[in-house]
Amino acid sequence: MKLSVKLGIIFFLIIFGLESFMFFFLHSALVDNRVEEELNGLLARGNSHRSVLEMNFDKTTISHITLMESEADTDVVITDSDLNFIGSSNQSIHFSKYIQSKTHDIPRHGKVIENNWRKTPFIATVSPIEIDKQVVGYVYMFQDTASVQSLIKHLNEHFLLAGFISIALTFFIIIVLSKALTKPLLEMKEATSQISNGNYTVSLPKVANDELGDLANSIQLLAQKLNYLTKERNDFLASISHELRTPLTYIKGYTDIVHKRNLPREEQEKYLEIIIEETTRLSVLIKELFVLAKFDQNTFVIQKQQIDLHEFLNNIEQKLSPAFKEKDRVLDVFCPENLFLMADPARLEQIFLNLLDNAMKYSSSGDKTVLRVIRKGTNCHISISDTGKGIPEKDIPHIFDRFYRVDKSRTRTLGGSGLGLAIVRELIHAHGGTIEVKSKENIGTQFELIFKGAIG
Ligand SMILES: Nc1ncnc2c1ncn2[C@@H]1O[C@H](COP(=O)(O)OP(=O)(O)O)[C@@H](O)[C@H]1O
Ligand SMILES: [Mg+2]
Repeated sequence: MKLSVKLGIIFFLIIFGLESFMFFFLHSALVDNRVEEELNGLLARGNSHRSVLEMNFDKTTISHITLMESEADTDVVITDSDLNFIGSSNQSIHFSKYIQSKTHDIPRHGKVIENNWRKTPFIATVSPIEIDKQVVGYVYMFQDTASVQSLIKHLNEHFLLAGFISIALTFFIIIVLSKALTKPLLEMKEATSQISNGNYTVSLPKVANDELGDLANSIQLLAQKLNYLTKERNDFLASISHELRTPLTYIKGYTDIVHKRNLPREEQEKYLEIIIEETTRLSVLIKELFVLAKFDQNTFVIQKQQIDLHEFLNNIEQKLSPAFKEKDRVLDVFCPENLFLMADPARLEQIFLNLLDNAMKYSSSGDKTVLRVIRKGTNCHISISDTGKGIPEKDIPHIFDRFYRVDKSRTRTLGGSGLGLAIVRELIHAHGGTIEVKSKENIGTQFELIFKGAIG
């Protein structure tokens, strides 16, 4: 069933129930009130006749009263204390069956003896006539219930009409309301199905500032994000194929040369060397892509343990120093002793090797790289600064992007794929840390890493 129909039915049932409840109460209150009023009026009339009779309890007064009542739409019966008729305004009606009730407990202000206006032809009251504290007779008053009934019938007709109008109005309002409520939902459903069909340029009208508006905004944001992600994925795939194609072209070209031409041994060696180099580059590239894919799938696992940073960095220094020396660069590591960090040792090593490898690659002979560790509270600040060639200001925001290299042609001879910093950043974020870069062209570059969870 459609949402609008469901909503409509629920609203209708609730409001219809409320309305019927209210109408029922209003109706019965009005009817009771009306009947009460009639009865009180009748009683008051009987009491006033009684008062007149108490002043002059004689034949003339009685006939006056009966005459008066025969002209009104009420009737009177006057009896003596033994309930014998001594006057009646309407001879054709037998009131006697009303006049059998017990008479000793009738209060001074009279009493209603028949109020069942629905079933009986009359409502009736009685008032005692007392002279010298002695009951000498009774005034019975009667009123035809037909008038009350027609009054109530009238009232019922009004109520029916009002009920009908309010139900029709409710129905109409509910249809409009539920349509208005579900319209934005339908639009959003349409938008999401367009998004799933690959059309990311959906535009949802700006609805009110409520939950529906928020939902519409979220859908729009989702579309933008998907659009961005699709574009990024396409760029990424294009870059990957490009990066894979270049070494493969080299490999194929040189293999062909070695294979077809009868080259001297020396030259063959030279080409085979290039082939090995390119193959290594390919396998490194594929390994890096694999790591990044794991990040994208969120299947990357970090296994933290307590690491003695001093010892850990000493090992790294020993590992890299020969390479630095060979290229005539200096590497200095400063780390306080007894400083421990919760981290994944293999990943941490990957981070440092990448950053130090960059520092070595993008500098010239005589340049110096310094790795310094400082503990600030429970944070561990690690800076890696070099006096190398630096990064142009316009490239700084991009260096963490995948495949981004400042100087594509030159870095290729250095063996970089442009994935190193992208991986470093992912690894640091996976540890809950941050990385920032400051650099000046021809002066040097400084990476500042902050890790949480330092003990020492
Ligand atoms: N210490 C550095 N000094 C100068 N430039 C750097 C440094 N580190 C990184 N870069 C620049 O950032 C780019 C991206 O680095 P990276 O992602 O490690 O790729 P790769 O090392 O494979 O080229 C590098 O190509 C280089 O231009
Ligand atoms: Mg690198």
